[in-house]
Amino acid sequence: MNQLDELRRRHHAAEQGGGPQRRERQHKEGKLSARERIELLLDPGTFTETDKLVQHRSRDFGMDEQVVPGDGFVTGYGYIHGRLTFVFAQDFTVFGGSLSEANAQKICKVMDLALKNGAPLIGLNDSGGARIQEGVVSLGGYADIFLRNTLASGVVPQISAIMGPCAGGAVYSPAITDFVFMVAKTSYMFVTGPDVIRTVTHEDVSKEDLGGSMTHNAISGVGHFVAQDDSECIQMIRELLTFLPQNNREDAPRRETNDPVDRADVELDSVVPNESNQPYDINDVVRRVVDEGYFFEVQEHFARNLVIGFARLDGRPVGILANQPAHLAGCLDINSSVKGARFVRFCDAFNLPIVTFEDVPGFLPGTAQEFGGIIRHGAKLLYAYAEATVPKITVITRKAYGGAYCVMGSKHIRTDVNLAWPTAEIAVMGPEGAAKIVYRRELAAEGDSILAAKTEEFRERFANPFIAAERGYIDDVIEPRETRARLISALRMLENKVDQTPKKKHGNIPL
Ligand code: HXC
Repeated sequence: MNQLDELRRRHHAAEQGGGPQRRERQHKEGKLSARERIELLLDPGTFTETDKLVQHRSRDFGMDEQVVPGDGFVTGYGYIHGRLTFVFAQDFTVFGGSLSEANAQKICKVMDLALKNGAPLIGLNDSGGARIQEGVVSLGGYADIFLRNTLASGVVPQISAIMGPCAGGAVYSPAITDFVFMVAKTSYMFVTGPDVIRTVTHEDVSKEDLGGSMTHNAISGVGHFVAQDDSECIQMIRELLTFLPQNNREDAPRRETNDPVDRADVELDSVVPNESNQPYDINDVVRRVVDEGYFFEVQEHFARNLVIGFARLDGRPVGILANQPAHLAGCLDINSSVKGARFVRFCDAFNLPIVTFEDVPGFLPGTAQEFGGIIRHGAKLLYAYAEATVPKITVITRKAYGGAYCVMGSKHIRTDVNLAWPTAEIAVMGPEGAAKIVYRRELAAEGDSILAAKTEEFRERFANPFIAAERGYIDDVIEPRETRARLISALRMLENKVDQTPKKKHGNIPL
């Protein structure tokens, strides 16, 4: 065999992965192969593969007979919307996509290149975790990856897609990355699977309930997006990247828009109901304000009392946080605090302005929240907002009560532009709660008959934005219809904003 034939043989073997039977099983389960996924992810014809000829080095447990060039991982680089991107995809047909010494080094190589060249890293995960036959060498490989995930955090965007059953180390690397996508019905994430759980805790739980896409998107908060199949998942990743810069030294790409910067939306004037306790959908407000009404929501199913996501204003990508009165009255609880804090930190790390729509009755009361550490978790959100130095703009649409007023991008924690609608209510707590505390003795003596009058007194005094505006805590009270124009004006003014945090190794965010 001449040298060219040998090269072709090896390339061909790498492309075959674990063989036709295993590939067929992958397709039957509705999953694409590692190579098909990369083809879909990158702009056509732009993929350059690295380490296609790498092989595993294990000689134990009959591994000699199962050598596949590439060792089941496809790694390399290409372009998404014309922008450089590094990528790896695990091939479940080769030892269940498990991590060996050799393919860990392949991943580390593209991670190092992504960091040095300031480009995003995307991991398409489909892996049974550490390769059992390789023992500690495989564990070491994972630790090498975790280190790089950590060093790259806040420098280049890191995106993980979970596209099969992922266990052990295969879930911890994604957990360190910025966004985790999951595919409905075919992807799972768990530290230990149902069998181990049955043995240790005697709990009987299905794979889906334990670590399926909705478990992680709605309950645990590990997932950020759920797609219906591999192809949709990959399109969503491509879409997400349109909002992100290549690295922390660049701004996100701007996009031409035909949406007029001064577009007034009169419907906004009547979005907030007359009754202060009536819900409305904050998504409706967000969509009416942003370019072309397009809002790319993140963690749509988790902690729905706080809506987060990306949109554009005047063609410029921004991160949006909005309390959702239509869910748990928009209160802040443990999950929404953590959700918001991590998003604020992402935006801050990657130069994305933060726009906050605030309508929050306060932190959720109750033993479950207090025992669960709402103090510690709520402090994360406060810390994240205070720490952020990107342009910050807050619009209070209705309630800004108590600690939540301070937390949700108040002027005091260096928010640049604070606006309020005339419907804003800014106070230590809601009027009725305030009356019950301040007039406790009178109420005890005279009964609840005076409650309504006292409540009204508080409402008149505090349920408005003007006291805050008189102090300059609110820069202006605006007509709701003007919101888009005012946000864009603020963003333009803040375009070259520079702000600093005292020099330190790093802060100590209450984790
Ligand atoms: C070597 C593995 C493997 C592994 C799967 N395979 N996991 N080979 N090491 N970790 C192989 C199987 O032997 C099988 O080979 C093929 O992959 C497909 O696996 P199946 O079990 O048939 O697939 P499925 O039924 O879909 O189940 C997938 C699975 C299960 C849920 C991932 O395979 C599983 O539970 N694997 C072990 C998961 C695990 O505990 N990993 C170690 C975690 S510890 P054949 O030849 O039949 O095709 C870890 C430490 C990191 O990762 C530290 C983190 C901090």
